[in-house]
Amino acid sequence: MTTLINVDNTPRGPEARERWCSEQLEEGNILFFPETPFELPENDREFLLSQQQSGAAYHKNIAYRPRQDRLTGFSKHGREDQERLRAIMRAYSGSVTQFLSALLPQYAGAWRLDFASFRPQEEQGRQLRLRARNDLLHVDSFPTRPTQGDRILRIFTNINPTQPRVWLTTETFEGLAQSFLGPGGAAEALSQRAKSTKSSGGLGRALVKLGCALGLPVADSSPYDDLMLAFHHFLKENREFQETCPKTRWEFPPGSTWIAFTDMVSHAVLAGQFALEHTYIVSGSALVLPHKAPVSILESLIGHPLANQWAEGSRQ
Ligand SMILES: [Fe+2]
Repeated sequence: MTTLINVDNTPRGPEARERWCSEQLEEGNILFFPETPFELPENDREFLLSQQQSGAAYHKNIAYRPRQDRLTGFSKHGREDQERLRAIMRAYSGSVTQFLSALLPQYAGAWRLDFASFRPQEEQGRQLRLRARNDLLHVDSFPTRPTQGDRILRIFTNINPTQPRVWLTTETFEGLAQSFLGPGGAAEALSQRAKSTKSSGGLGRALVKLGCALGLPVADSSPYDDLMLAFHHFLKENREFQETCPKTRWEFPPGSTWIAFTDMVSHAVLAGQFALEHTYIVSGSALVLPHKAPVSILESLIGHPLANQWAEGSRQ
């Protein structure tokens, strides 16, 4: 089961601390900071909190793409508000990345900056299609950003001044994979489904093509990405698993920050409004426990390579 690790209790000294933090994350635990550990100006926080959802104005999270300095997902904002929001997300991206680079320099030397997001909607009672629902337990897999076996590292901050953000977790990836993808499990069926979706030009494929057409930095998917996406769908669609699996409930208080490899830590968001999040794709070459990575676990369960180009030389 996933555990919450309070970072106030880490070993002293930057190297011992980095090693310890990396091990905790790669074991499938969540690093928890009771207070926001990076600069977030009060004016910026107040502006973000003033962005109340108003009917159709926010259908999506607001995403910021740091490599292109581009903001998407908002609507009905005045030009001035858009520019202010972009400046705030730019500053947030810089600040949180600087903090994480100091905490985990080995990851930082080998990560690709992914998106940052601002989540102004109340999660409780959100009406979303089943595969997009946040309140169902799942591990992350992004159809438009295949990782080829590299890792999805995410840092979250609850900027709500009064309400906690509430998560559920269950077993980490290894336990889930053994239950559902091991001998007699669904791996072959999921692989087949993923392959047939791919060859028939399914949604994942279509999104990648669209991304390429739009000039977005999308990569083609590997068998690992296809299987992870199929597993994401399988977990969300599995009512018995959702209802009966052992669950741990976490309440992240106002101002707190937490970090996890969300391709490994199963999670569901039950409630909470106003969170900031930033994603990094960490190369397998930077891991301290590469045998714990989902791609390694899946390959040993299935018995053949799933991402040939993954972390050459890192899988001792
Ligand atoms: Fe997720």
